[in-house]
Amino acid sequence: MKILHLSPELAPWSKAGGLGDAVAALAKSMGALGHEVRVVTPLYGSVPGAERMGVLLPSLQVGVGGDPRKAGCRVRTQSVAPQVEAWFIEHEDYYGAREIYPPREDAGERAHFFARAGLDACVAAGWIPDIIHCHDWTTGLIPPLLNTTLREGPLGAASSVLTIHNLQHQGLHPRRTLDFAGLPAHLFRPDELECLGGVNYLKGGILHARTVLTVSPTYAREILTPAFGHGLEDVVRRRADALHGILNGVDRDEWDPARDPHLAQPFSAGDLAGKAACKAALLRELNLPTEPDRPVVGVISRLWDQKGLDLALAVLPRLLREDALRFVLLGSGDASLEQGFRRLAAEFPAACAVKIGYDHGLSHRIEAGADFFLMPSRFEPCGLNQMYSMTYGTLPIVRETGGLADTVIPWDGEKKGTGVVFTHADLAGVEWGLRRALELYAQPKKFAAVRREALRQDFSWRRSAEEHLRRYAVA
Ligand code: ADP
Ligand code: GLC
Repeated sequence: MKILHLSPELAPWSKAGGLGDAVAALAKSMGALGHEVRVVTPLYGSVPGAERMGVLLPSLQVGVGGDPRKAGCRVRTQSVAPQVEAWFIEHEDYYGAREIYPPREDAGERAHFFARAGLDACVAAGWIPDIIHCHDWTTGLIPPLLNTTLREGPLGAASSVLTIHNLQHQGLHPRRTLDFAGLPAHLFRPDELECLGGVNYLKGGILHARTVLTVSPTYAREILTPAFGHGLEDVVRRRADALHGILNGVDRDEWDPARDPHLAQPFSAGDLAGKAACKAALLRELNLPTEPDRPVVGVISRLWDQKGLDLALAVLPRLLREDALRFVLLGSGDASLEQGFRRLAAEFPAACAVKIGYDHGLSHRIEAGADFFLMPSRFEPCGLNQMYSMTYGTLPIVRETGGLADTVIPWDGEKKGTGVVFTHADLAGVEWGLRRALELYAQPKKFAAVRREALRQDFSWRRSAEEHLRRYAVA
């Protein structure tokens, strides 16, 4: 099959969260299964080595409205893996800055441009896809376009797929974006793309894609309900028959403790000596006392309401005062959370280290050096870090939601399970989860057994890619 992915993030070139990882790994796995894959994504100013990339189309006039001088772009190409190419949409005004999601007045036009450019690039290059797979809200106008304006064109026979990686971010933009995209005016109705007087991109994608996917079976059920639907639950319910949850995986080229260049020492399920060395090295790196017997709880996260870290911030002082654990956090986002965690580290300098910012190498070293990894998410479509953690023998402490519920087996108090799972995203839930982890850590034989089971889990992208391909075949 010829498979086109449209995504605003593509690791390692651009990544704000798990979307970049997920699309890159899915594309590579599909290529490895023998399919021809192209991933279209913007060439942000932060993407390194653009001048060394190939040029697929030196100039492409994209089918959008507005100022025709702004409708031109260049398409660069870069090989990702055998059979897999990234096509970067180069447009200085839209994407020349470093940020992936900057707040700007023409955010709707900018979001749509690269995806539409991807479709037009396929036609111009004579590469006609069987599947057009859209990822998240920025690509949401593509399925309605394929069902209307582009229906009789060369891409009309392609089957459209939308993956919802996060229903919270929907893209609500002014009515004029409909004209910009070349969509018929009659789609501006409450039972179509209209929402609160604007155009809701994700709603368009959900209503019009032939297949709607999300990134875990539990999240696929949750988003049918008001508690998780972010106001789109009725829209999602209209597509319930076409909706399926497929878990993400772990890219072992990137996340394998036996050959991870970022670690002080490699280790594996069969030989965990290196993990102790990684723990000591992490504590040294973060200027914490190296006490091998004290449990280290790690966090790597966007500091965002979704992630429930405000709850952790409220609960941690008590545990730190009891000197029960060491806590390390890497993250950035909400200014008040950043400040709150900085203060926590200042209050407990010998027990808590906080790095505000984005640090790829440190994220690997935390996964390797921590004993536990905390994810108290209010909702979590899939979550990648709990899977990376288990792969590194680090036990996740997670709230029972979305992909966290689907990937972590709750510790049963004996030797079974792969982590600690709590039910409620509230203070009592997070405190219970942390104390339960301490209880497990205090029983070395049980802790070792649970760690072994965590290390045995196989979160392969191949399985995920195969499941996607089965869904494509049905579409
Ligand atoms: P989400 O996509 O909702 O942020 P995921 O768990 O799916 O959550 O993916 C988050 C990804 O982003 C992981 O690969 C994680 O390691 C990475 N990440 C998040 N924050 C940082 C950071 N500050 N530094 C390095 N990597 C980060
Ligand atoms: C989103 C979700 C996260 C998921 C990621 C990749 O950012 O918040 O749960 O793992 O996408 O699918």
